[in-house]
Amino acid sequence: MKFHKANRLAGELSIPGDKSISHRGIMLGALADGTTEITNFLQGADCLSTIDCFRKMGVTIKNDGTSVLVKGNGIRGLKKSDGILDVGNSGTTTRLMSGILAAQNFETILNGDESIQRRPMRRIITPLSQMGANITSVLGNDCAPLRIIGGPLKGIHYSSPVASAQVKSSILFAGLYADGKTSVTEPYVSRNHTELMLEYFGASVSSDNTTASVFPCSRLDGQKVIVPGDISSATYFICAALIVPNSQLVIKNVGINPTRDGILQVCQQMGANIKLENVSTTKGEPSADLVVTSGTLHGTIIGGSLIPTLIDELPMIAVLAAYADGETIIKDAEELKVKESNRIDVMVENLKKMGADAEATDDGMIIRGGKALHGAVIDSKLDHRIAMTFAVAGLIADGTTEILGSECVAISYPDFYESLNKIIE
Ligand code: S3P
Repeated sequence: MKFHKANRLAGELSIPGDKSISHRGIMLGALADGTTEITNFLQGADCLSTIDCFRKMGVTIKNDGTSVLVKGNGIRGLKKSDGILDVGNSGTTTRLMSGILAAQNFETILNGDESIQRRPMRRIITPLSQMGANITSVLGNDCAPLRIIGGPLKGIHYSSPVASAQVKSSILFAGLYADGKTSVTEPYVSRNHTELMLEYFGASVSSDNTTASVFPCSRLDGQKVIVPGDISSATYFICAALIVPNSQLVIKNVGINPTRDGILQVCQQMGANIKLENVSTTKGEPSADLVVTSGTLHGTIIGGSLIPTLIDELPMIAVLAAYADGETIIKDAEELKVKESNRIDVMVENLKKMGADAEATDDGMIIRGGKALHGAVIDSKLDHRIAMTFAVAGLIADGTTEILGSECVAISYPDFYESLNKIIE
């Protein structure tokens, strides 16, 4: 797909549902008694993989293309799948579901695409094994395929070396089935959607600073889940409106959970003009309409506890940094290397192709902004966030920007290009 310089962006748009919340709605709905109705469910390929996996374990799930109805099997009601569970490209499905499977009285093999088969699973194998689970990497390389033979679990306290909501959530889900309290401490607080939703479904959970805990649970109750727009998806439009001259966009109903809103903090640090309107909170998840106006930006330093709150937004932030005046340093972000692609290498390589001054470091990037970008052929490596990031970069570059593998946006934002086209004037 090809992109060209845009004169101006304007209009109003709604962002599809949050990916993290959509996954969790299916998982908890499947384990609950009664029906769970999920509105504004994200119809991205990752969330559809989660639906497929739970259907294979005997859960009835109706999906009308917007809302999803999950008829829960109860906390002990999952059934052994006939074949392997295919998680596609989804790290969230793999890691969160492994926590659930660790406690089931059957064996499961779980596998996904090439990218999933390169992503690190030791980070869940270690804590789930400490809880007593029998979970192994079939090829012995600490990656999927994983074989999980579920059984009785014991409650543990785990100090995670990484701030990862996928690791935390995997352990908390397993903790529902343990013989006592289970806690996870992280170096920094990661997104807390699991804790919020567990509480909402009736589990006993608590959070204290960087530690989240759960108590064993015999029953969850189906709920109505209203999914706010995904701030990670909104980021492409926020940043596009900031960097394309004379632009103004109204982005409706964006989730602004404080464990996810680092992009807004960074934009503010860089001098952006973003106003929040109609702020409201549903079941612990806040959301707002964002009014974004273009303008000059300046470089900044991004690291520490901010990183988990904007981990998926860092590729797009790197383009903001290339546009901004002065230097931007992104540090403490080694996790970028183990996402759907190595996002440090892929960003730096492609930014350089477009004429930016970018340098990879061990834990992030240094970008000296203000150089004009020119079009280039960008290999997305089939990483949805890379494809969307460079589509936006193409809107401020001279010449043509071509994205290879552009169809991979279907992972998290199937209508991305249609939405982008609608706001280009
Ligand atoms: C997610 C957590 C993040 C994020 C991913 C979704 C989740 O991963 O990158 O896109 O839903 O829990 P980590 O927790 O591994 O950083």
